[in-house]
Amino acid sequence: KLKLGVLISGRGSNLQALIDACAAPDFPAEIALVLSNKADAFGLERSAKAGIATATVDHRDYPGDKPAFEATMDASLRKAGVQLVCLAGFMRLLSPWFVGQWRDALINIHPSLLPSFKGLDTHERALAAGVRFHGCTVHYVRPEMDEGPIIAQAAVPVLPGDDAHSLADRVLESEHKLYPHAVRLIAEGRARVDGDLVRIHGPVPDLATLT
Ligand code: GAR
Repeated sequence: KLKLGVLISGRGSNLQALIDACAAPDFPAEIALVLSNKADAFGLERSAKAGIATATVDHRDYPGDKPAFEATMDASLRKAGVQLVCLAGFMRLLSPWFVGQWRDALINIHPSLLPSFKGLDTHERALAAGVRFHGCTVHYVRPEMDEGPIIAQAAVPVLPGDDAHSLADRVLESEHKLYPHAVRLIAEGRARVDGDLVRIHGPVPDLATLT
């Protein structure tokens, strides 16, 4: 099975979706380590409950020294035998060095249909832009924020009366389906980087039917 390292900063609901997916015997990946940059992240409790190894590397312990912060995270992921790093609500921007260390082995979930709405407050900005569809994206990470070859996306409608919270909830529900789906594609060798794009090999299920 492909060994995952999941990086979190907080709630960890996407982490939970990966934990639940990995619990199925036929899922082709397993979580080797959950790494948080915050000691009080709720995702750490989820991991402990699932019997998964955790580590905290607090960026505040490395003031002005991002290279040391990232070298510690890198070492801890390597020691755990991690093969694919999954960012799941990890709220630190990673340096070109770290991204280079894990090139094509580092993915992120972002709450918008990229390349629209990179960065923060995506739901507010989608509402302000008046888009009729919004959603989420799983992509390979490149040094520029929220850039990189797209692996999978799920769209959700923006409905009359939506506010940022109702829209965020609808997107989050789709994130929880999309992330395990994307990890499965990679673990099965069916999502391969080819230049600036990901080529998908074999059939892809309709996300509406994913459970
Ligand atoms: C998710 O919506 C994720 O897409 C987003 O943060 C939330 C984390 O929730 N990520 C980003 O905004 C990355 N810039 P979670 O901790 O419950 O998975």
